Amino acid sequence: MKFVTLNAYLKREVSEPSLANLVDRIASACWQISATVRNAALAGNQGETVNVNPQGEVQKPIDLIADDIFRHSCLQNSDVGALISEEVQEVYHRTDAKEGDFVVAYDPLDGSSNIDVNLSVGSIFSISRFQDIQALLPAGRKIECAGYAIYGPSVMLVLTFGDKVDGFTLDVDAAEFVLTHPNMQISNDTIEFAINTSRERFWDDIVSAYVEDCIAGDDGPRRKSFNMRWTASMVADVHRLLCRGGVFLYPQDKENAGQGGKLRLLYEAQPMAFIVETAGGRASTGKARILDVPPQTPHQRTSVILGASDEIERLENAYAAGPVKA
Ligand code: AHG
Ligand code: MN
Ligand code: MN
Repeated sequence: MKFVTLNAYLKREVSEPSLANLVDRIASACWQISATVRNAALAGNQGETVNVNPQGEVQKPIDLIADDIFRHSCLQNSDVGALISEEVQEVYHRTDAKEGDFVVAYDPLDGSSNIDVNLSVGSIFSISRFQDIQALLPAGRKIECAGYAIYGPSVMLVLTFGDKVDGFTLDVDAAEFVLTHPNMQISNDTIEFAINTSRERFWDDIVSAYVEDCIAGDDGPRRKSFNMRWTASMVADVHRLLCRGGVFLYPQDKENAGQGGKLRLLYEAQPMAFIVETAGGRASTGKARILDVPPQTPHQRTSVILGASDEIERLENAYAAGPVKA
């Protein structure tokens, strides 16, 4: 079968050569990271280090290798003015960065707790524009391009420039990404939800009631039998809902409320929100759209509830109505 290559696609879809070049650099970083992931056990890169990242979480050697690959690839584009990485405390910015240069926010390896059990992991990124040093952190509504790569049974890159979401598969023999999943759309007709149910004791009433209704199945108020899937890799869980519908929740709960949630706004929630909303879904904290959450610090966390828009609106309506009465 003849597929459009990522290169041809970028020439066709992106009028600004430097932006096309940056996306191409990121695609090549993802390809290199996929090879590192594939060879992790052979190279002794599966274990944990004593390092902790800016959020106080354990960094594996492979998190740092992926960060290095991502950063170097981005910096090959001389219009990159700033980089915000999960693995680096400070935002990097060129001292001579000028208005209009690119700001790339990225999670170089998402779901890295899955590395030693050989499950899917990925990378997540957004691209926006540098304005000035005071406004370095990208607002969700200013994102121009977002994407993720998934390192699963095949390597895929899912991309959006805000008009549609397209999925590319790495053709290893031809050594290029090719367009295999054009115009991905999130169906409202869903029977799947994804949440870490081991945190149930921390959930608020709204999330508890939503999950309870899903679990009640055919006999419950939803009158349908839901299925639950949780990969512990946001990329894999979001990719599944882009392919076959569903809902993903990592809500703020009683345990993580002090930090604002678990997932990070700039390089996890925002890019995924931009992708999901472009694909016809909805992304919310429960109380506000994720793309409207003002960024304040590089590693700030947020509640994340995203996927099929009817389901997300149901949750938003429940939050707006207030706590469930006993
Ligand atoms: P990262 O590996 O970049 O730190 O991100 C892990 C995130 C996300 O991918 C996933 O949805 C979530 O953490 C899993 O959390 P639990 O371990 O609480 O399930
Ligand atoms: Mn992550
Ligand atoms: Mn990560």
